[in-house]
Amino acid sequence: MAGTGLVSFHGSAVPPDNFLEDVVAGLSLPQKQLPPKYFYDARGSELFEAICSLPEYYPTRAEISLTRQHIAEIARFAGAGCELIEYGSGASTKSQILIDALAPVAYVPVDISESALRAAAAQLAARFPWLNVRAVVGDFGRPMAIPAFGGPGRKVVYFPGSTIGNLTREEALAFLRMTRGQVGPGGAMLVGVDLKKDPNLLHAAYNDAQGVTARFNLNLLHRVNAELGGDFVVAKFAHYAFYNAPMGRIEMHLASLERQMVNVGRHRFSFAPGESIHTENSCKYSIEEFQALAALGGFCGEKVWQDAEGLFSLHGLVAA
Ligand code: AVJ
Repeated sequence: MAGTGLVSFHGSAVPPDNFLEDVVAGLSLPQKQLPPKYFYDARGSELFEAICSLPEYYPTRAEISLTRQHIAEIARFAGAGCELIEYGSGASTKSQILIDALAPVAYVPVDISESALRAAAAQLAARFPWLNVRAVVGDFGRPMAIPAFGGPGRKVVYFPGSTIGNLTREEALAFLRMTRGQVGPGGAMLVGVDLKKDPNLLHAAYNDAQGVTARFNLNLLHRVNAELGGDFVVAKFAHYAFYNAPMGRIEMHLASLERQMVNVGRHRFSFAPGESIHTENSCKYSIEEFQALAALGGFCGEKVWQDAEGLFSLHGLVAA
């Protein structure tokens, strides 16, 4: 059952991101926006890891705690010898808890950040020398080729961290349907979903006292400058995050502190005082809301686990 401990890297079979095209299109909208996937360059991935250990940012701690607490049941749900595919694996911290308990025949981390993937793969190879690791550099938001393993175990997609919250409900539904196709009949999904709660707790989690989330958000402008020849004066923008209750989501924006013009390559954009670039949504769900969405996406909610404080949920879904 044990693998041969091979570690391999695969490019995704889809065309690479067009950062410039996405930035120009996003900044040309009436409500300017930039896709959150571009947060994760090497510096952004580092800042995100720092966010995860902030006192105010409860999701990571809550999810790790509930995973440890319910690991035996989670392993039973996934089934012995499964093929574990993780979307947005980053540092693969949570997956190590799962790999330990599940002993999957293969682990397929998929992440947009090659640097994060390489660091994680090296760590995994050292800790689990028997494990087949097939890392895929790619965007899980688009259909992609997962290297076929062809083992007998079922495919289980692990999607922790409430990354699904970055998608609108419509996008999340499309994503669930795509994943349902990916895991096939008998397949399953373990998805981490942040719960609706006191807006003050939510607000604090995205407005930390040390300003790490602000640096994470503003790093996107540094990245545009460095990679696309932009001339954003980063000090003239402010991190702005709030809970939009009717939409059930945290919104992150970068707000212009004054009237200004910004150039990106040959393109020119004007900002009014206070005008913002919408950089991220982080949707929050009740257990019932998410189960209903999963059902529409072709999954049957079999299990739900929560941490002791009821801050975060992990859903065990099976292909309907
Ligand atoms: C990685 C999308 C789950 O929405 O909480 C953290 C990203 N943004 N702080 C989230 C994030 C600001 C995070 N997700």
